[in-house]
Amino acid sequence: MIFIAESDYRTVTYFWIAIAIGVLIALIFFRAPYGRHERRGWGARIPARVGWIIMETVPAVFLSVMLLLGSNREPVVLLFWAAWTAHYVNRAWAWPARARISGKMMPLSIVFMAVFFNGVNTWLNGMWLFELTPGYGTEWLTDPRFIIGAIIFFTGMIINIRSDDILFSLRDDGSTGYKIPRGGLFERVSCPNYLGEMVEWTGWAIATWSLAGATFAVWTICNLAPRAIAHHKWYRTEFEDYPTERKAFIPFIL
Ligand SMILES: NC(=O)c1ccc[n+]([C@@H]2O[C@H](COP(=O)([O-])OP(=O)(O)OC[C@H]3O[C@@H](n4cnc5c(N)ncnc54)[C@H](OP(=O)(O)O)[C@@H]3O)[C@@H](O)[C@H]2O)c1
Repeated sequence: MIFIAESDYRTVTYFWIAIAIGVLIALIFFRAPYGRHERRGWGARIPARVGWIIMETVPAVFLSVMLLLGSNREPVVLLFWAAWTAHYVNRAWAWPARARISGKMMPLSIVFMAVFFNGVNTWLNGMWLFELTPGYGTEWLTDPRFIIGAIIFFTGMIINIRSDDILFSLRDDGSTGYKIPRGGLFERVSCPNYLGEMVEWTGWAIATWSLAGATFAVWTICNLAPRAIAHHKWYRTEFEDYPTERKAFIPFIL
């Protein structure tokens, strides 16, 4: 049963936000064990590239399934579906194809957790867009919330993709280790790709003006803010000449 009553949906959503806060607290103390923070003790491992494809194919495909099964397919909702799908086509297939992660591994437990997280977030947004929304109407396209939200969403997407591109280019020489990233927003923060992702889903929350969108933005921030701080500390420990003026993910602030 993909679609549920609105009252149950709200209960699940508030519960899911509470879990996000719990995850934020947990991630302040524990680094999710993938990428540079990968370590043994988290069970069976699979190639990182395969892990990314599995984790991110869920939201790439699941929202389309919900679109087909749902009852609202008005133009504005199709635009939201297109923006979401564009993001996840990049993350599920383009990003893993371009990332220089050959030979890198990832715990299967992380993949399962991410599939669950992505599945619930996709379901919450699909429920809202295709079933519960009273309808945006084409007038939503000129509403300031839609326009401002869309600008923020695409600004975040550009920051995220450009920053990931800079990171990929650091291994153009065939190396597998880590270097100090330079250029773009890396001159200001250690993790502009995470900043872009957080900005992107904040824009989504504003453009959709929905509890589901806000929940996903909260989850993204709870997930990525502590990881950005962990990356930042790691850079400062690993590189003696790491730029001192660089912050973790909010320029000049944090
Ligand atoms: N919405 C969400 O909640 C969420 C959660 C997680 C990730 N994401 C997104 O997924 C994407 C990937 O996330 P991530 O955690 O893997 O990001 P990341 O730690 O910044 O790594 C991105 C890629 O660049 C490589 N890399 C990073 N720093 C490097 C350096 N200093 N030198 C050379 N290579 C470097 C990484 O290699 P290694 O793998 O070898 O470290 C990885 O392939 C990001 O765009 C992120 O925003 C979103």
